[in-house]
Amino acid sequence: TTHKLLLLAGDGIGPEAMAEVKKLIAVMNKTGSVTFETEEALVGGCAYDAHGAAIAEADVARAMAADAVLFGAVGGPKWDGVPYEVRPEAGLLRLRKDMDLFANLRPAICYPALASSSSLKQEVIEGLDILILRELTGGVYFGEPKTITDLGNGQKRAIDTQVYDTFEIERIAGVAFELARTRKNHVTSMEKRNVMKSGVLWNEVVTATHKARYSDVKLDHMLADAGGMQLVRWPKQFDVIVCDNLFGDMLSDVAAMLTGSLGMLPSASLGAPDPKTGKRKALYEPVHGSAPDIAGKGIANPIAMIASFAMCLRYSFEMTAEADRLETAIAAVLEDGLRTGDIMSDGMRQVGTTEMGEAIIAK
Ligand code: NAI
Ligand code: MG
Repeated sequence: TTHKLLLLAGDGIGPEAMAEVKKLIAVMNKTGSVTFETEEALVGGCAYDAHGAAIAEADVARAMAADAVLFGAVGGPKWDGVPYEVRPEAGLLRLRKDMDLFANLRPAICYPALASSSSLKQEVIEGLDILILRELTGGVYFGEPKTITDLGNGQKRAIDTQVYDTFEIERIAGVAFELARTRKNHVTSMEKRNVMKSGVLWNEVVTATHKARYSDVKLDHMLADAGGMQLVRWPKQFDVIVCDNLFGDMLSDVAAMLTGSLGMLPSASLGAPDPKTGKRKALYEPVHGSAPDIAGKGIANPIAMIASFAMCLRYSFEMTAEADRLETAIAAVLEDGLRTGDIMSDGMRQVGTTEMGEAIIAK
């Protein structure tokens, strides 16, 4: 089998982290039964410098044709002044839109080796393994009207509009239940049906989808504000949390802080299955940005990028055993005491990007 990957390393620490994944792919190509065919292209600030756009049209087409896209990070102070339409983030937004990546998966995992050095209560986070599923292409970030009007009396009025159609809720709920079946078989849906019509419809459609196709999965409903509180109080009560774009944005950042560093957090964004092949378009990226403050120093934590590749193996290529091995290798290297600067603690051995990446590959 051959899988086509497009690597978009981007700016700042993006290429440094991606370099470790490239080494891993080279090793897997030599030793495994599956072959990864990789192409590389520019995205973000470096693409703007090269051709005046955050991503070239030809590279959008490459992303559409690839089996999966691995994305590093984009942006940096160098491009703070560039026009809004071609700012580095525009490259990522363009890909999300064209690839119709409506499902954003953000796992929050607390590796046992890091639990004891956390400033949070150890019993709360030790062994934590939850998944926040955020709807990514609808809701209040995109709904129309979206305006600021001058009311003429020294006052202005800002309007954002939350819009969800049945099919949008149905497809994200479907992903939630499918994912739950591969995990602890439990979905918690969060909305605000007490004050929002979109919350009423969300609740209704999730419930109907569950009843029609996924009644084997345990389903709970929680108001999103109460859910935020429960996420901090006792996060281990959850398995898969599914919510809209806005609540998902906030709750996934809250969950992120349960696990330690930004440098540890992977993510996946999935599209709808192709009606002919059943394959989903997919983009995998670390949650962190381009970290200009540490770029070029060889000290960035590559784990978020490597764990994003593990998600790619799991969700795009059904290489579950390989994904498990990679995640186990990450945990084992942490058990051995290796730490990049962002997760360093007393008595551990501080290493750079390359040493961390190669230690994981060696495991
Ligand atoms: P950031 O995630 O780049 O950095 C925040 C802090 O975390 C920094 O102190 C950084 O050194 C540290 N950090 C992040 N990743 C790390 C890693 N792998 N290893 C060690 N330390 C790490 O967020 P920030 O500073 O708000 O944004 C910097 C630039 O990145 C901006 O231009 C921003 O627009 C862009 N950005 C891009 C994203 C993307 O490409 N998806 C997401 C977030 C921000
Ligand atoms: Mg956010």
